Amino acid sequence: MIRRSKPKLQPLPAAGPDGPRHVAIIMDGNGRWATQRGRPRLFGHHSGAKRVREVVEACPDVGVEYLTIFAFSTENWKRTQVEVAGLMSLFRRYITKETRALNERGVRVRFIGDRVRLDHKLIKLMNELEEITSQNTSVHLTIAINYGGRDEVARATKRLAQDVADGRLDPEAIDEETLPKYLDTYVLPDPDLVIRTSGEARISNFLLWQSAYAEYEFIDTLWPDFTREEFAALCCSYGGRDRRFGAVKT
Ligand code: FPP
Repeated sequence: MIRRSKPKLQPLPAAGPDGPRHVAIIMDGNGRWATQRGRPRLFGHHSGAKRVREVVEACPDVGVEYLTIFAFSTENWKRTQVEVAGLMSLFRRYITKETRALNERGVRVRFIGDRVRLDHKLIKLMNELEEITSQNTSVHLTIAINYGGRDEVARATKRLAQDVADGRLDPEAIDEETLPKYLDTYVLPDPDLVIRTSGEARISNFLLWQSAYAEYEFIDTLWPDFTREEFAALCCSYGGRDRRFGAVKT
């Protein structure tokens, strides 16, 4: 048997001190990628999962500390039962298969989104992966499953209202700093750069509050074709952006 060794990966450029600290990705185009090849949509999702590994591994080289990926939205339940079940099974498989490698690479994994609708097996795997990687600091990977920005704000508001009703929070004290403490992302910095693949220029309910001042990159590449080199190039070109957060440069 001929054993082929893994091709040596070329070093990636670092985005440097002006690079994005937190990159969020809407991984779109799996279905079209599969259809173009005459394969079922789930084949595209499986190929997309391989790109996740590649991008996570690229983060330390490029200098990205936080990576947040949109894996399943609150609207994705409207897909066929076959696709939804296939995606849930892929998430279980991904966690089972990747836990060791993620932990060895020092990746801390978190999940955002509403877990109530997810099956118990998946929730258990998610909790275990969060627990196992909880001391890691090299990359903070956040996976959004059953996540929607509006749903997140609604859930946050419900908890905030409960704190007011119970006398723990003074309504007069509520400001822009208060609501984020109730969001799923309360421990994460806001994303600096949001990338969406597949040529669609929409944000599709992703990190609505958190992306108020993010830079956006909408690129034509379908997610299963996205490469670590493309990721590095987008992060490097971010360094040239003039972010003013509403202020005027003096
Ligand atoms: C959108 O593309 C993609 C999704 C709804 C699923 C994203 C999931 C993965 C990339 C799987 C791997 C994730 C993890 C965390 C293991 P689409 O299917 O809507 O594409 P289309 O617009 O071409 O139909």
